[in-house]
Amino acid sequence: AMLVPAPGPLAGRHVVITSGPTHEPIDPVRYIANRSSGKQGHAIAAALAALGARVTLVSGPVTVPDPKGITTVHVETARQMLAAVEAALPADAAVMAAAVADWRVAAEGAEKIKKDGSGRPPALALTENPDILATVGHLGDRRPRLVVGFAAETENLIANAQAKLARKGADWIVANDVSPETGVMGGDANTVRIVSAAGVEDWPTLDKGEVARRLAARIAAALA
Ligand code: CTP
Ligand code: CA
Repeated sequence: AMLVPAPGPLAGRHVVITSGPTHEPIDPVRYIANRSSGKQGHAIAAALAALGARVTLVSGPVTVPDPKGITTVHVETARQMLAAVEAALPADAAVMAAAVADWRVAAEGAEKIKKDGSGRPPALALTENPDILATVGHLGDRRPRLVVGFAAETENLIANAQAKLARKGADWIVANDVSPETGVMGGDANTVRIVSAAGVEDWPTLDKGEVARRLAARIAAALA
């Protein structure tokens, strides 16, 4: 007989998740990117779906496969990611796990930038991207009941995470140390702390799948 999964504690709930990097074009052949793999965000999407949630995953360019049973919207830039998140609302919870590029090139070139023979490199003027988490965190009556962000830091982890919690209007910040020696960026393990108004909760170093399952269970409890 077919195994029919139990409805799960998140049945009837909709969760929007961002995952992966964004790519910001410089010209038709070049872009600004970062080392995010999407492993953690995609694992959270899968873990929430396993608890019965309807999940919309808004993913930047990644090589990890689309999780099964989830609506995955593929985007490249931060502005496209924001538009896809807004289009996916309303949601009961939002988990903003993407490593959104902070800046984009102010004037994307229509043609490939050429060396001009002078030996002097071109100057790339940058402009700040919209902050997707802060936008969602301050949405007013369309704000999801639970808004979860991440804080990727290489120093002053807790202080920076607490500042982001306040500035972005998030309920929880999942703080992680992304210093190169931790291997978090691109690796399979993650050491996180959950920062909220209630305080700081330290989690042991776990496989990203296990971080995702624990976070999904915590989200289910918060929405119950
Ligand atoms: N974030 C976002 N949109 C951005 C930048 C960040 O939604 N344009 C979200 C990330 O998905 C994450 C949280 O904000 O959930 C924190 O991202 P992070 O890069 O750590 O914070 P920033 O505010 O960009 O600050 P900085 O990179 O200077 O530390
Ligand atoms: Ca950033």
